[in-house]
Amino acid sequence: GVTVAGDRDELVRAFENLVENALKYGASGGRVDIGMTLAAAPQGDEVAVAVKDYGPGIAPEHLPRLTERFYRADVADSRAQGGTGLGLALVKHILQRHRGRLGIDSTVGAGATFTVRLPSLAERLPEPDTAQPAG
Ligand SMILES: Nc1ncnc2c1ncn2[C@@H]1O[C@H](COP(=O)(O)OP(=O)(O)O)[C@@H](O)[C@H]1O
Ligand SMILES: [Mg+2]
Repeated sequence: GVTVAGDRDELVRAFENLVENALKYGASGGRVDIGMTLAAAPQGDEVAVAVKDYGPGIAPEHLPRLTERFYRADVADSRAQGGTGLGLALVKHILQRHRGRLGIDSTVGAGATFTVRLPSLAERLPEPDTAQPAG
């Protein structure tokens, strides 16, 4: 398993926002994939969680501004879904507090991938089962 130091509720809220966006804005793609990888980074192990949808995607000119408060790429779609434009600003804020970061990749017409990277504590190997006497 992978362990991340931080505030459980905040981290859950960050992932909820990303999954909710993928389900709302990427609904036409019919599926959302969530994957996790662990990689060695110069400062220590890093966990990356990617939330990938197959919806309309996001035009490149919006990407740099997407985490600004109240910024919406598709205002009509956001309004129709009850959005406020605050979700990704919150995600960014939470990740900053956890020394993490958010990556956004998209190909218009093919979907969007939001990747959260967080420092992870060393992966723990399963404890040897000492309760069972050998032999
Ligand atoms: N998975 C996605 N696919 C397409 N557009 C997205 C996706 N996630 C976010 N967006 C765009 O980014 C904008 C900002 O997202 P967010 O901050 O969560 O605000 P909102 O309250 O509108 O969901 C959304 O309004 C939407 O235009
Ligand atoms: Mg949102």
